[in-house]
Amino acid sequence: LADDVALLRLMQPFNLAEEIPWRPKRVRAALRRLLRDARLGVVLVAEARDHALVGYVVATFNYDLEFAGPDAFVTELFVEPAARRDGLGTRLLEAAVSSLRAAGAAAVHLLVRPTNRAARSLYARRGFEEVPRLMMTRQL
Ligand SMILES: CC(C)(COP(=O)(O)OP(=O)(O)OC[C@H]1O[C@@H](n2cnc3c(N)ncnc32)[C@H](O)[C@@H]1OP(=O)(O)O)[C@@H](O)C(=O)NCCC(=O)NCCS
Repeated sequence: LADDVALLRLMQPFNLAEEIPWRPKRVRAALRRLLRDARLGVVLVAEARDHALVGYVVATFNYDLEFAGPDAFVTELFVEPAARRDGLGTRLLEAAVSSLRAAGAAAVHLLVRPTNRAARSLYARRGFEEVPRLMMTRQL
């Protein structure tokens, strides 16, 4: 990816929608590290014909004995409003899953807000199932 600034421009509305405080400097440094080190995860983008970025997906690796090896989290999926409902979100998700599988991940997880009907419907169609567990987080 030549232009991480263009990608950050798409990340801002994603973070806004997810109510994640937008800290571009911090995110940019972390994004650059992720782009440099394929062991951390994958970043894939969708471009329009004029090469403008219209969508992206980020997925990162974990390691879990339950899956006897690496698993992964899709941490961000976003498609520009004008480009939605045209299959792009599905293609980005499936491209990320292919990369994760090729890298040896045995399962892929994601978090989605219960009220996000569009995303939930997309994920359900692509085989993601709800698990009877609560995600809990402690800041370190
Ligand atoms: C979720 C998102 C990535 C979907 O992108 P997209 O390119 O529109 O997705 P697709 O065109 O591949 O849609 C695939 C399916 O998902 C479902 N879907 C997508 N948008 C929907 C909507 N607004 N309402 C209901 N179902 C929807 C449909 O089943 C759709 O298939 P269909 O168009 O044949 O009916 C996009 O809406 C987005 O960026 N939202 C804001 C960010 C976000 O919520 N990301 C996920 C956070 S977990």
